[in-house]
Amino acid sequence: MNLFLLKHNTPKEYANYFFKNSLIDFIFGHINPIYSNQRIKAKILDIKKETSDSVTIVLQTNAQWKGFEPGQHIPVTVTIEGRRVTRFYSISSCKSEKFLCITVKKQPEGLVSNFLNEKIQIGKILELGEATGNFTLTKNNKQDLLFIAGGSGITPIRSILNQLKKENSKLNIDVLYFSKTKNEIIFYEELKKLQNDFSNLNIHFILTDEKEENFRTSFLNKNLIEELVSDFESRLSFVCGPSSLQKISRELIPSKNLILENFQPHLTSVPKSNNQVKEIKLLKSHKTISVNGEKTILQELEANGIYPPSGCGMGICHTCICKKESGITTDLSKGKTHNENESIQICIHRAETNLELEL
Ligand SMILES: Cc1cc2nc3c(=O)[nH]c(=O)nc-3n(C[C@H](O)[C@H](O)[C@H](O)COP(=O)(O)OP(=O)(O)OC[C@H]3O[C@@H](n4cnc5c(N)ncnc54)[C@H](O)[C@@H]3O)c2cc1C
Ligand code: FES
Repeated sequence: MNLFLLKHNTPKEYANYFFKNSLIDFIFGHINPIYSNQRIKAKILDIKKETSDSVTIVLQTNAQWKGFEPGQHIPVTVTIEGRRVTRFYSISSCKSEKFLCITVKKQPEGLVSNFLNEKIQIGKILELGEATGNFTLTKNNKQDLLFIAGGSGITPIRSILNQLKKENSKLNIDVLYFSKTKNEIIFYEELKKLQNDFSNLNIHFILTDEKEENFRTSFLNKNLIEELVSDFESRLSFVCGPSSLQKISRELIPSKNLILENFQPHLTSVPKSNNQVKEIKLLKSHKTISVNGEKTILQELEANGIYPPSGCGMGICHTCICKKESGITTDLSKGKTHNENESIQICIHRAETNLELEL
């Protein structure tokens, strides 16, 4: 008993000794849904409409939250029609803000982005994961900065800019923010105010699909970047936006100065090996589906009402990894064929033959 007392000093440690963690989670979660001794949960305190198709969700996290660096992202899990689904969202608030914020733009037919824009309510609980990602500034950075954002790609950049302002950064900072139309610019008024209050910050709002007075209409190209930020090659550049913006940024900016964040799957278009119907056999759940091998295995399974664990849907988080017992797949992110028995990320692999998966 003395040894027991030495090892368990707090009420939580006593409780953990007597009950399984999950049981405590279950009981306390019923008393107060935000409580958990294992999982990061957050209560929605506010939902702010940013544009007609984006919202900022203000969150109060529980004691399991360990904090973040500006520019990082978190997995957010919600239950939609009985199905738990996870997507990644960049943190749009900065460290000094009292509450954590994410900003979500609706994607056409997007499951979670539409749910978070239209269905979720103040007071509800979201399940989060730890903040991760390298789209961050190192503490001793002395290099002037260039941020290039496309659409919702401004979210992690907002967090970093507010942090730089808070720290009274003396670096020269330029932002090229591309948006399809003026009405789709997220944080427009707020960013203009930030620019007014922060003398070394210069934000260039650029429209791609609309002509509007006092706005430039252009896609990113060499002439534009040279004109707006003449010393861009020597700056440390952060790019967050669609694949097309990332591609041209890679061509223009020296790779040693370039940090990229991708919100969308970057899958290569690989010709199908044949037009035959393939069978995907799930060995643990004893289900078999027939596919024609056009989509990823995850998409094929979901289209058949089977929802294996998944997260980012783009080969980043490894949540969807599973053992392939037999069959040939193609990794669509690299265009490479895999025929050995090995573990695959089903969100980026496509079936080339009949498959047997440990699912
Ligand atoms: C590291 C990281 C950070 C992210 N941060 C943010 C953020 O701060 N704000 C934000 O709004 N989103 C962010 N995303 C994207 C987000 O995770 C989801 O992919 C997005 O909300 C769509 O999910 P969905 O469930 O609505 O769409 P799904 O139901 O998964 O997909 C529906 C359709 O939309 C397409 N699609 C999916 N994502 C995108 C996209 N980003 N752009 C264009 N088409 C897409 C799919 O190809 C599919 O055709 C981030 C993604 C990653 C990996
Ligand atoms: S769902 Fe994230 S790697 Fe597949």
